[in-house]
Amino acid sequence: MEVIVHENYDLVSRAAAAIVAQTLNAKPNAVLGLATGSTPLGLYQELVRCHRDEGLDFSQVVTFNLDEYVGLSKNDPRSYYYFMRENLFRHVNIAPQNIYVPSGTTDNYQAFCTWYERRIQESGGIDLQVLGIGSDGHIGFNEPSSSLGSRTRIKTLARQTIDDNARFFDRPEDVPIYAITMGVGTILEARQILLMANGAKKAPAVAAAIEGPVTSRITASALQMHSDVTCLLDTDAASQLEMIDYYRWVQAKHPGAPVRASRPHFSSHPTVRYDAPPARSPVRSNGVGSL
Ligand code: F6R
Repeated sequence: MEVIVHENYDLVSRAAAAIVAQTLNAKPNAVLGLATGSTPLGLYQELVRCHRDEGLDFSQVVTFNLDEYVGLSKNDPRSYYYFMRENLFRHVNIAPQNIYVPSGTTDNYQAFCTWYERRIQESGGIDLQVLGIGSDGHIGFNEPSSSLGSRTRIKTLARQTIDDNARFFDRPEDVPIYAITMGVGTILEARQILLMANGAKKAPAVAAAIEGPVTSRITASALQMHSDVTCLLDTDAASQLEMIDYYRWVQAKHPGAPVRASRPHFSSHPTVRYDAPPARSPVRSNGVGSL
């Protein structure tokens, strides 16, 4: 796990955008796993800027979102589909048929979850998965006690998550109780993972995920089992890391380290740099994990 700490949210967002941009330049038809919420907003703004000003090309990109609220349609401004459309998709040249967001209104959730998993596989698997982290340590909506081998399914949101996300709704009681989410096992199959976190509220979850034991209490801790995870943190989110001096040491020594051939973006440089592209009703889950 590579832990990179930046001074502020803006630098975290730009560093994340640099990683996404370099992935797309290395593989124009890359499959991206995407998150919603406050954390990746700056990343999406920077990607939109890169597309507009520097020609970052999304024409062959395929995206799979992590999750969606059960009961909210695509056109509901509180849905994650709507969030993605407003904050990224409608501002870049992504093909509509290449966008996948779990359905919050399907008639058959079990069949949908199986289909979603199959579509990820048929698309070649996720090359780069972007993640935020919940204050309870969740990734996607894999709440504490989720199986670390879980697949896409319906989850009941934890009280803490409902409270955290009430800011997006008129009234706390409007927050859906169920969500459809990729599983921890689904997420761990991505070739590369980018975990972003900012703000002091995330500091305990970040410390537990990176330095604590691997446990279903903090589903983000399962990322310790993955061989290619980059954690991009601001100083507040990193404030409870016990090994912060070590991470900063590693970060400072990066420029002199041998470059890993398999990874085109072995850099903690926060500036986005890349070559311009050439012209051109809830049911139970599928048996894995709890409802
Ligand atoms: C959203 C998602 C969640 C969020 C997490 C943090 O698609 O998968 O895991 O990343 O709840 O949310 P914010 O960024 O709003 O603090």
